[in-house]
Amino acid sequence: MRKLVLTVLATLALGGLASAQNFPSRPVTIIVPFSAGGPSDAMARILAERMKVSLGETVLVENVTGAGGSIGVGRAAKSPPDGYTVSFGHLGTHVANGAIYKLGYDLVEDLDPVALLPSNPMIIVSKNAVPAKTLKELLDWLKSRPSPATAGTAGAGSGSHVAGLAFEAATGIKLQYVPYRGTGPAMNDLVAGQIDMIVDQTSNSIQQVRAGTIRAYAIVDNKRVDSAPDIPTTDEAGLPGFHMTLWSGMWVPKGTPKDVIAKLNAAAVEALNDPAVRKQLENLGLQMPPKDKQTPAALGAWQKAEIAKWWPIIKAANVKVD
Ligand code: MLT
Repeated sequence: MRKLVLTVLATLALGGLASAQNFPSRPVTIIVPFSAGGPSDAMARILAERMKVSLGETVLVENVTGAGGSIGVGRAAKSPPDGYTVSFGHLGTHVANGAIYKLGYDLVEDLDPVALLPSNPMIIVSKNAVPAKTLKELLDWLKSRPSPATAGTAGAGSGSHVAGLAFEAATGIKLQYVPYRGTGPAMNDLVAGQIDMIVDQTSNSIQQVRAGTIRAYAIVDNKRVDSAPDIPTTDEAGLPGFHMTLWSGMWVPKGTPKDVIAKLNAAAVEALNDPAVRKQLENLGLQMPPKDKQTPAALGAWQKAEIAKWWPIIKAANVKVD
């Protein structure tokens, strides 16, 4: 009997080894938990295009939306741990959502980290019809309104929602959140003047700002963005100390073979270090993670530190989700 058990275990181990050695032998799917056309979708597609070169297999991007990104992350977390399903997300989906939703999965226990991806500061933008040209004028306008201004988000717990909460805490100004399945559709409504503002990822707003279809007031950071040097920082524009950077990352279901994770990490790192990819991402205001932060362990440690930092803040905001 013992011999049989050892044989079975050896076969399973070899099977796993074989799968890792042959990985990938079919397309890999990256689940983006927000709508197409938003910043998460844009970054994932840019990276997927280059990762397929390293992996030698098609890398698909699938948008699975809803509930601040938690539905898409859940879909990935419950997928087979074989490396063929990757969870794309960020501070909102892989940290904040754990403090807001009863997720049905654990953001740390049910996912293995693959790689930390680029980050970008948030930016305060409004529709062009807002009668303010500077951040100070915007704050005065917001304070003078009889009812809260509408702020687009990608749903409770999304990056744009967490940034809105941080904006409210920094200014004492209440906002009325309008949730979308991503800040891609939220941006469409901002351009159309259907909502007043977004505290958005710079990478999502920067092209509309350059086109003059929306107005930017400040980069939510203490340094300007190289690809948009004319936009002042919150420190310069009258809201000193209000800083927020949104980082992204990739995960796989817990239990994915380490060799498979290493191959996915290598493909992501090669993409991040490809000059053409870097140019595309930096032009959107995205900053590459430092080289020593590009390992799976570095993302795991960072996510845990961010959970420790943000959960008390988000829980104190007492966010209600229906
Ligand atoms: C967010 O606000 O969480 C993201 O910007 C949403 C998105 O990527 O569409």
